[in-house]
Amino acid sequence: MRWTLRTATTSYTVELPEHRRWLESHSWGPHGVEHGPSPLANLGGTPYLTEADAAPVEHVPFGRWDGGDATDTELTAAFVDDLTGMRVVLRYRTDPAHDVVLRWVEITNMGDADLRLDRFDSAWVCVPVRPLLTFLAGSWAHEFQRRQLVLPAGRFEIGSTQGVPGHAFAPWLAVQDVDGGLAWGVSLAWAGSWRIDAEVGPSGVTSRAGRQGTVCVRPGETLVTPTVALAFSVDGVDGLSRVWHRYERTIARDRPTKVLYNSWEATEFAVEEHGQLELAAIAADLGVELFVVDDGWFTGRRDDTAGLGDWEPDPAKFPGGFGAFVDKVRALGLDFGLWVEPECVNPKSRLYAEHPDWAYPTPTLIRNQLVLNLGRADVFEFVRAALRRLLTDYPISYLKWDMNRPDAAIDADHVHNYLRILDFLRAEHPDVTVEGCASGGARVDLATIARVDVVWPSDNTGPLDRLTIQHGFLHAHAPHLMSSWVTDSPGFFDVRPRSSAFRFVVAMAGVLGIGADIRSWTPEQRLEATRFVALYKEIRHVIHHGEVHLIGSPADGSCAVQYTTRDRIVVLAWHTGDLSGVPRLPGRADRFRLRGLDDAADYVAGGVTYRGAHLRYAGLPITWTADHDADVIVLDRV
Ligand code: DGJ
Repeated sequence: MRWTLRTATTSYTVELPEHRRWLESHSWGPHGVEHGPSPLANLGGTPYLTEADAAPVEHVPFGRWDGGDATDTELTAAFVDDLTGMRVVLRYRTDPAHDVVLRWVEITNMGDADLRLDRFDSAWVCVPVRPLLTFLAGSWAHEFQRRQLVLPAGRFEIGSTQGVPGHAFAPWLAVQDVDGGLAWGVSLAWAGSWRIDAEVGPSGVTSRAGRQGTVCVRPGETLVTPTVALAFSVDGVDGLSRVWHRYERTIARDRPTKVLYNSWEATEFAVEEHGQLELAAIAADLGVELFVVDDGWFTGRRDDTAGLGDWEPDPAKFPGGFGAFVDKVRALGLDFGLWVEPECVNPKSRLYAEHPDWAYPTPTLIRNQLVLNLGRADVFEFVRAALRRLLTDYPISYLKWDMNRPDAAIDADHVHNYLRILDFLRAEHPDVTVEGCASGGARVDLATIARVDVVWPSDNTGPLDRLTIQHGFLHAHAPHLMSSWVTDSPGFFDVRPRSSAFRFVVAMAGVLGIGADIRSWTPEQRLEATRFVALYKEIRHVIHHGEVHLIGSPADGSCAVQYTTRDRIVVLAWHTGDLSGVPRLPGRADRFRLRGLDDAADYVAGGVTYRGAHLRYAGLPITWTADHDADVIVLDRV
């Protein structure tokens, strides 16, 4: 028996072999690839192996076929293990609107003894390549660094045991053949500990992805694993990024996140009414649309040693009342946003004094804080009520949900309740935009992304570092999700000088924000900022909805991101390397070969007309100088 799931442009085919003990991958690629013998089929014997070791199995083999059901977009396949009484249902779902296949597994204990599961992947997927793996690795302030390796044999594994996806690896992997070309991708919808591996075997490479941890499934209970998303592109890892972007747009709400000002870098914990209003007034003049007060607004919060858990505005910081303060910000024409870290608590807080048992009993503090056990019903209710109170007491349009403390104790109940609260925010407060943050980008996964509007990829806003972080981020995630701020120079992490235009163009590559102390900006700086904010507003629909092509990388000396809609193309370009010596020495302009254009159409930018073929093969010319290290080119199709 064979079934084919059809996505927008691909076919994903699985087969039930005659022995009916497991499901096998048959083929996965552009429509039509399913017509012919499977590229994964084992044509040889299985000396000193079991048949399952050599087969491209779709999940743990062994069991008895217990039935299945399929349409073009859904497949269910059930197996039962008579020995343990475990019934495993493999589930597949897709949609013609994108090229992603979603998979998860339901495990039911039909026996009468507890089942202890140490490993329970959401999916296995086998592709017929000698693998070149691309993944996103890093640390705090250096998230989403693109890394590649060839795996000639053995197993490669990335993951997190920290209770959150973590800074070290994004839950995302791309697999290609060693010479590049076709690309297959895996991305996990799980906001807790996780694991993705890739193992070379007789059929190619098998990647397995899922939640990490041990669970006990009691008789009669069903465990539903997180969803794994699988993607394919004929255009390599660059094309794969567009498949992910398209998919993320289908799960996003269709509205642009506003240009924001966030006061964290300007004031840190020294939040007080007067200073915030000064910043808000200047931000409004620059054309900013939303003012976000970050950490430091609530009682007891003078630094990071105290206050988390006590979600009431500090009257000492807002002597005129918090409501009146919010009204004053809004009177400037700005929406109002607020930072919260609902899952954490400082031992120095009223909440901890009243409920010390609500925190996981972890002996160590990180950033002087502990994590609340959100899996508990009372903690869940507390967090939900605290957020509900803030959102109903004040006209808050934007909530930045932070999480700065990894904890291996965080379990699936906690993660489920975190996702439930995000669902509740969306249902009960649909007009509130939610930003996901975890000390930068430590919780960027498809489950979070389906429930927030934007994410904060990193605390590092230094221009060159940020460009590299964003380059990696855009491999996996869409630009409408990528929050980015222009901050002061020299920055905290990356102090290398770059023009303010460079900083703006970097932050414009996703959702533009400003995080500098704009009180100290000169009139010229403010004027420049006003121009960039206005330009961004004109082109943000292209940045948020256009097809993305990553042209070069920050390591190349110059690079660009091309955003393409039918009638308008925006190219954001940056120079990171040496100058050519022009005009003292002979030389020529840097050229960016654009993609995805109509070769025969004309495109106009800055009064110059380019033929599509010229842009594609000769490239868009930009001449860099010491003062001109970034550019925004808007091409309109004639
Ligand atoms: C970590 C976040 O990543 C920052 O943007 C900021 O919100 C701080 N936490 C505040 O404590």
